[in-house]
Amino acid sequence: MPCEVVLGGQWGDEGKGKIVDWTATGADAVVRCQGGANAGHTLVFGEQRLALHLVPSGVRQPGCLMVLGSGMVIDPLALLEEIATLEAAGLDVRRRLRVSAAAHMVLPVHRLQDRAQEEQRGAAAVGTTGRGIGPAYADKAARHGVQMSLFTRSEAQFRSALTAALEIKRAELEPRVHVDVAATVEQLLACREAIAPLVCDATSLLHEMLHAGRRLVLEGAQGALLDLDHGSYPYVTSSSCTSAGALAGAGLPPQSVQSILGVVKAYATRVGNGPFPSELLDPTGERLRKQGHEFGSTTGRPRRCGWFDSMAVRRAAAVSGFTELALTKLDVLDDFDTVRIAVAYDLDGKRIERIPVDAAEQARCVPVYRDAEGWRAPTRACRAWRELPANARRFVALLEEHVGVPVGILSVGPDRDSTFRVRDRTG
Ligand code: IMP
Repeated sequence: MPCEVVLGGQWGDEGKGKIVDWTATGADAVVRCQGGANAGHTLVFGEQRLALHLVPSGVRQPGCLMVLGSGMVIDPLALLEEIATLEAAGLDVRRRLRVSAAAHMVLPVHRLQDRAQEEQRGAAAVGTTGRGIGPAYADKAARHGVQMSLFTRSEAQFRSALTAALEIKRAELEPRVHVDVAATVEQLLACREAIAPLVCDATSLLHEMLHAGRRLVLEGAQGALLDLDHGSYPYVTSSSCTSAGALAGAGLPPQSVQSILGVVKAYATRVGNGPFPSELLDPTGERLRKQGHEFGSTTGRPRRCGWFDSMAVRRAAAVSGFTELALTKLDVLDDFDTVRIAVAYDLDGKRIERIPVDAAEQARCVPVYRDAEGWRAPTRACRAWRELPANARRFVALLEEHVGVPVGILSVGPDRDSTFRVRDRTG
């Protein structure tokens, strides 16, 4: 059955939005499976730059349905704001957008709680996006979260259920965080008319589409190393960023999957805190940041930059079962004399070839690099494997050798048309 999964293979910001947009050509639906407005996908179309946070990256594909799946946490206020921005840019959003009734709401108090918790953590702060993601998932797991289905209930039911949920938050958080129950109920009630028509049984919808032979793209948010179970805990997001997480979030079975594409950058970046063994705190890191425009699209924070880490990507590929890689931003390395790939770590004097599970051990890992000669030539105009400089091809082959997954898609610039499929290595 035709279901393609697209996931981040590093610490997020791998260029998934662009690859999903490209993969979504001719797709019938693009589904966001987990996360919330912490994601930031920038789509570039000529002069136009669109920052998506909740709406799936299929937004530019005419006729493509956009589904916010059951595994997501959705800030209703942020959703309406995003819809308005996209519609102002001339995109047809509302008619194609579906929101799972089972997805959870991010309430205004979750944002306040997210920030308060970060402050309390002090030097051990996670460096969250401040979008209320962790608290919303925590409430979901504690079984006092609020599902999006509430928008479809009567006004009286809406008021009483939301009031009850907010009273629980008030008891939990005051006096540290002020919870204005009445104002929040009114604020969210004002969203009801616009959101209610979007809410549906997304699981049934997706199953019907699958059975009708429709093509679905599941869009992962964040990245493998930010995964709640397999990332560098606690410096992670609060959802599952794996293929299994994507399926759980969409409500689809494993046998519906046709391919699992891992999106990785030709180097590495991370926003927020936590271990990053190949981080470059030197002019080379600065150069990657500048040339790669590595500033967060959700928070605007400068991203930490470093060399490609094959242990991290290998872990991601193993957990999610990547069938191929989409390698992005190869052009950012165009004028380097030498390019490096971390192929092992030195951990307390011992060589290891796996990323440790423990974040404290990850932080002590010193990368062992394999160097490759740079290509010192522009790749932005390349649209086929044979057009790439020989050293760029060698670099890609080296990266494949160390990750153990073939590169099937290459991206050499920000525009949609600077992405191409690596068909065969001679052509
Ligand atoms: P949260 O998801 O806002 O709770 O943040 C937890 C961690 O995940 C922080 O380090 C964030 O910077 C990071 N993070 C969350 N979403 C993204 C994303 O879309 N790209 C990159 N990093 C992210």
